[in-house]
Amino acid sequence: MPNHAHCKARRAEFLAAIDTPVLLLAGSWISRNYPANWSPFRADSTFLFFFAVHEPNAAALFDPKDGTVTLFLDERTATEALWHGPVPSFADIKKLTGVSSVEKRADLARFVTKKIGRRKARTVAIADPRATAEAMAITGETLDFHDWAKVGDPALLHAIARLRHFKSDAELAEMRAAAAVTREAHTLAMAKTRAGIREQDLVGAVVGTFVKHGCVEAYNTILSVRGEVLHNHAHDNLLFENDLVLLDAGAERQSGYCADVTRTWPVGGQFSPEAREIYEIVLAAEKLAIEAIKPGVRYRDVHMLASRVLADGLVQMQLMHGDPDELVANGAHAMFFPHGVGHLIGLDVHDLEAFGDQIHYAKGRTRSDQFGTRYLRLDLDLQPGMCVTIEPGIYFVPAILRDPKFRKQFKGQVDFARAEQFLELNSHRGFGGVRIEDDVVCTASGHEVLTAAIPKERLAVEALVGSGVS
Ligand code: GLY
Ligand code: MN
Repeated sequence: MPNHAHCKARRAEFLAAIDTPVLLLAGSWISRNYPANWSPFRADSTFLFFFAVHEPNAAALFDPKDGTVTLFLDERTATEALWHGPVPSFADIKKLTGVSSVEKRADLARFVTKKIGRRKARTVAIADPRATAEAMAITGETLDFHDWAKVGDPALLHAIARLRHFKSDAELAEMRAAAAVTREAHTLAMAKTRAGIREQDLVGAVVGTFVKHGCVEAYNTILSVRGEVLHNHAHDNLLFENDLVLLDAGAERQSGYCADVTRTWPVGGQFSPEAREIYEIVLAAEKLAIEAIKPGVRYRDVHMLASRVLADGLVQMQLMHGDPDELVANGAHAMFFPHGVGHLIGLDVHDLEAFGDQIHYAKGRTRSDQFGTRYLRLDLDLQPGMCVTIEPGIYFVPAILRDPKFRKQFKGQVDFARAEQFLELNSHRGFGGVRIEDDVVCTASGHEVLTAAIPKERLAVEALVGSGVS
């Protein structure tokens, strides 16, 4: 957990960057069905960033006028202790965090209204709708967590992002720890893979590893032999010898910092000739994109670089025809690589994604409307401390490759007859998809791959699959 001195320093930087009082809420329990049956609590990431306190219903007021930070917590009652156990007292929390004062959560509206007087206060919409509604009632803003244009005042979002974008040593230590747990989960799943079991058998191994280390899934685990479904959360397929398993899973530490890693491997332990070719192309694209990461590099250029390697490989395999640069310029590569090369990562697996393109696209840059490039979530010039994923892939998606509109648009550039052969592989189940993903921090001298210990070289992966040893 980043220590409280670190959080206190971040709060001081934030206070210096804002000119209105700012109210932040952690959010609270969200019920699964009846009110008392809750989903696991996860505090809002900005709140975690400033306080490293995982307490439901917590709130905080930053006041730049007098430099105070007031924390609001639920009262400690015997009933709460009976059902949920004892928690540190207000005095303990004040000492631990170094905030100016700790007040009763029930007094939030009254306290804030009195303290800010006639000044305008601001808040940020969070995933918990009740907390957001409560904060909006106090600040008088109309916000919407699900619409990034309305998630908060842009100047405030920038002030938060300028801090959260740059990971300190303490934060990177958390991310390396999340990567270590993620390595164990991925290698265990590879080792346990064999034909005849189901995807969910491997999901159990992955999630069990996270739990064993006090972590949770940073996002719903994707483990599928239908890797061409990009966010496939169904786990009931049987594994056949010739299938490829695509595992996209990352651990999240109690601090909230996480990993996001994808590996792909053959159920039978040996890539088929065509899977081997595709795998090596994706791996080459991933490595070249990672190598490009250094201060000042434009993330969109990294995306284009990976796309160029994929297009070149697909031309070599006669799945595409033409000059790779032209294929990428026309967007034809997106028929096999329909998503962006990655995203920021940190406390959110897609870090700060709720703040939208106003944060993720540099001034003067806007999203492409071209199919594929349209899903590029980030177009900043990278700076030391920024953490991103690099995750190229090649997929055989029937809905794309058989779409009459695309067949017309990319006639002559995509070899649809050859693609059809891949769609018919494995007794008509199709080839599936290959994605390889690592988490990378930009450093002053270039980059560090936080997830480098997770095997991805073809021979290393093949040696692990089905070995029972991880
Ligand atoms: N790990 C899933 C994603 O990056 O979208
Ligand atoms: Mn990712």
